[in-house]
Amino acid sequence: MLGAGSIFQQLHAANFSLAEKNLTSKNPIDIALDADYWRTIQDAYTASKSDIVILNNGGVSPQPIAVQQALDKYNAFSSRGPSYYMWRQLDKGREPLRERLAKLAKVSAEEIAINRNATEALNTVIYGLDFEKGDEVIGTYQDYPNMIQAWRQRAMRDGLVYKQINFQFPIEDDDAIVAAFEREISSKTKLLHITHVVNWVGQILPVRKICDMAHKKGIEVLVDGAHSFGLLDFSIADLNCDYFGTSLHKFLSAPIGSGMLWIKKEHISKVWPLICNDQPKSSNIRKFETLGTRSFAIEQAIGEAIQFHESIGAARKEARIRYLKNRWCNQVVNHPKVRLHTSMKNEYACAIAGFSIDGMRPAEIDSILMSQYKIHTVGIEWENIKCVRVTPHVYTTEDQVDLLAKAILEIAGRKA
Ligand SMILES: Cc1ncc(COP(=O)(O)O)c(C=O)c1O
Repeated sequence: MLGAGSIFQQLHAANFSLAEKNLTSKNPIDIALDADYWRTIQDAYTASKSDIVILNNGGVSPQPIAVQQALDKYNAFSSRGPSYYMWRQLDKGREPLRERLAKLAKVSAEEIAINRNATEALNTVIYGLDFEKGDEVIGTYQDYPNMIQAWRQRAMRDGLVYKQINFQFPIEDDDAIVAAFEREISSKTKLLHITHVVNWVGQILPVRKICDMAHKKGIEVLVDGAHSFGLLDFSIADLNCDYFGTSLHKFLSAPIGSGMLWIKKEHISKVWPLICNDQPKSSNIRKFETLGTRSFAIEQAIGEAIQFHESIGAARKEARIRYLKNRWCNQVVNHPKVRLHTSMKNEYACAIAGFSIDGMRPAEIDSILMSQYKIHTVGIEWENIKCVRVTPHVYTTEDQVDLLAKAILEIAGRKA
């Protein structure tokens, strides 16, 4: 069997342990400022050498070299004859991988299904639960479109009532967010759909508090963790939710096309598989993995991404990425024509932040950033949100976010 973790050992382990040895503090907040330490991480990504500055890691993230090479290695292994080497050999890596993902999420491996992205994970729950006509689900207009559409489709087909709250972000008040959900709850409400980190502007929602409130009323909670898993230092168990779906190709930097679904053990039997299974009412989480022929190479290379992530550590990663976000935001926040759409308080935001410039469309700013500064961001126009979204990652340099801040100030200055 091919050993997961071996490529990290060959490529990065020595550099990482040297960087570790040279640290002058063990505090993640201090380490966030240690340029030498982070240079080692940056060097582990080819994206750090890109000819453009990549600040849309919220869309999809690049992989470190170790993950890229693991993927190549597993693909080459499969290509020797996939019906044997992929289906009967690489396949043996799935259970150990499930254990590693479970350890990372601090939950039982019997609650983890491996799949291809957050859309698949969350749609498994959205389409998999039985509802009666008139039952209510509460989400928001600021959730991800694929999930909003799935709930609307269920409403159209099954007579489910799908209610949406309209938040005006940023909000720096947990109680106000919990109260907004609580106000919508009726005797018919069965489930709340919560986006842990709102993709448009990076708002972090107080998931634990919402779950505690909902459970007191016998209501379940589905969490969209596409932007929190691998970024924020938390365990799924801490959230006290019922269902959690995420992509692994965002902040975990796993290969593109990898995702994960967690379902609390006691709920597994009542969720129908999205695709099919010979025992659809089973309480075995593996019933959600009848996905047809797919790349086991992608799946197995997730192990290398976990190794890379753990070699940095969740607390350090969160602190560093938040530091980079705050670093550019602090440089532009006081310009009279620049508006931030994201909180500067640590508990309400981490990697993602949005900004706008008075009198300019987001797409126009995004286009100037690319054509004049070679900076890649994304212009957002969604519901009540109009901003340019910026997302650094662990391989982003301070110079890159400083360049972004300079560019924003210049563009805003020309508009004055
Ligand atoms: C909040 C949120 N949920 C879900 C998704 C869907 O992720 P994927 O395309 O990997 O299925 C995204 C993608 O950006 C997202 O931002």
